[in-house]
Amino acid sequence: MTGHSNKNSLWFFLGFGTLVIFTLLPLASSLAAQGAATTWTAPASAKDVKNPVPATPKSIAAGKEIYEENCLMCHGEKGAGDGIAAQSLNVKPADFADAKLMKSETDGSLFWKMSNGRGPMPGWKGTLSDTQRWQLVNYIRTFSKGAAK
Ligand code: HEC
Repeated sequence: MTGHSNKNSLWFFLGFGTLVIFTLLPLASSLAAQGAATTWTAPASAKDVKNPVPATPKSIAAGKEIYEENCLMCHGEKGAGDGIAAQSLNVKPADFADAKLMKSETDGSLFWKMSNGRGPMPGWKGTLSDTQRWQLVNYIRTFSKGAAK
């Protein structure tokens, strides 16, 4: 093969590459936007994990303290997802007072979601201990118990 045809194929690949980028970029960004709106589901293995911390008044009180320090600014005082920092987010923080949502979630699922986070929701695995995160599960469940009536 001559150098001439190599040059042609280079131009072909450059042109094709540009085409691919301009075709895929809008697609990728629309997928990213959709991703924020899709339902968030914990893996089955995480859903089945049992809460090792009983929901005693003591563990709920411990969860409340951690919540007020780390979660209240987004999830709100009553867990409704209306904390002061929520206004600046493009995704609404979960509403823990929503009994339907909370019934659809196992303790294991809530634990997994707060551990790993998604989008503006931080993952707390590295910051809070396992026990602290289970205490939080026990505490955030109290929001919908009050609202369910
Ligand atoms: C910076 C704001 C912010 C902070 C701080 C925050 N969250 Fe969130 N949280 C979110 C947002 C936003 C979502 C929704 C994420 C989504 O659906 O993609 C969310 C979702 C969740 C969910 C998932 C609920 C469900 O069933 O889908 C749980 C559980 C949760 N947060 C617990 C916590 C806990 C516990 C803390 C404190 C340790 C906390 N969050 C701190 C913003 C925050």
